[in-house]
Amino acid sequence: MEETMIEAFDTVDVIRTKRDGEELSTAQIDWVIDAYTRGWVTNEQMAALAMAVFINGMNRREIFDWTKAMIASGECLDFGSLPRPTADKHSTGGVGDKITLPLAPLVASFGVAVPQLSGRGLGHTGGTLDKLEAIPGWQADLSNEKIMEILGTGCGAVVCAAGAGLAPADKKLYALRDVTSTVDCVPLIASSIMSKKIAEGSASLVLDVKVGSGAFMKNVDKARVLAETMVALGKDAGTHTVALLTDMSTPLGREVGNAGEVSEAVEVLAGGGPADVVELTVALAREMLTAAGKPEADPAKALASGAAMDTWRAMIRAQGGDPEAPLAKAKEHMEVKAERSGVLSRLDALSVGVASWRTGAGRARPGESVQLGAGITLHAKPGDTVTAGQTLFTLHSDEPQRFARALEALEGGWEISDSFEGARPLIIDRIS
Ligand code: URA
Repeated sequence: MEETMIEAFDTVDVIRTKRDGEELSTAQIDWVIDAYTRGWVTNEQMAALAMAVFINGMNRREIFDWTKAMIASGECLDFGSLPRPTADKHSTGGVGDKITLPLAPLVASFGVAVPQLSGRGLGHTGGTLDKLEAIPGWQADLSNEKIMEILGTGCGAVVCAAGAGLAPADKKLYALRDVTSTVDCVPLIASSIMSKKIAEGSASLVLDVKVGSGAFMKNVDKARVLAETMVALGKDAGTHTVALLTDMSTPLGREVGNAGEVSEAVEVLAGGGPADVVELTVALAREMLTAAGKPEADPAKALASGAAMDTWRAMIRAQGGDPEAPLAKAKEHMEVKAERSGVLSRLDALSVGVASWRTGAGRARPGESVQLGAGITLHAKPGDTVTAGQTLFTLHSDEPQRFARALEALEGGWEISDSFEGARPLIIDRIS
């Protein structure tokens, strides 16, 4: 006779515990994550539990157990055999955030292995893989053997898709949270990000926790709690973890959209590019290099001299891309002009992110393809003086019928005034 598996808990009891604001035990958490991954706990039940967590929270021990259980749901990579120290970076996501593109080859050019297992964009925030796919031939999917080869004896930097085997419980749960309004919750965000990052196995991790309209965390206090939670999770798991809180009230750089962001990243690697992109790239590189035992390295000098460009080219070629090939261009363009002279006193990240997404640069549903040349070029940034009639933004799309809705998203998202109060600092705080 076939043996029936006896489950250790009743799902309804686990949901009721959290619904009533009580603590979940380690055994309950281990079981519920495993049973959800196996399909015993249904999506409806997990949605109820996620909402109970959203409303009642979890304490540090519960978050740590939840993270460990999600790591245990899949495989872990081990970079311990590599001849180079490893350092990883994760950004909680923003508008115009192309920092991984110059950062990975920059840090690798100092002899550090940089495994950047990245995602695709959904909603108004772009995805690093979508951006790199604007380079002809570039492939996001690599085998674990190929990743190890590039990190160990190749150029040292890999930006690729996380395999299905890493934290599968999180993949399932993240998709469920996305459609049940349970994304925006510190314990669930922290455990989601850190389960994947710890399973990736890098010895050190630098977190870029974004704050502002274009980020998950709209205010500094909430972002600080998220950063502190993730740093504690990393340390508990033995990963050297540091977080920077950085401003996302206005887009990073002057290009928002896939091909535009790649070309801006190349400008930065050539020693130019917008000051904010350079500042954040250098700050994150310093943290990664220090964590990897190279505090004497000077990433600002390396960027300014173009020294990391060879590593960029090697990184793109190692994944089938042609770094010299022209990038995709949109077929249609539309300019938005200043109606008066003054100073651009506000440029809202969320408005620009949604507008760029509506040009076709992002996807509305998982699995849709994106337009590689679509997006927005920002000809002025907060603090810049503008004159009436000057072009403020250029919208790019293959489908001109998209411009009207993109313009609607931009409306009210920028302001020209007589004076400017001063830019917010880009790097708000450091948490270690
Ligand atoms: N990114 C993730 O991987 N998980 C979240 O919950 C939020 C952002």
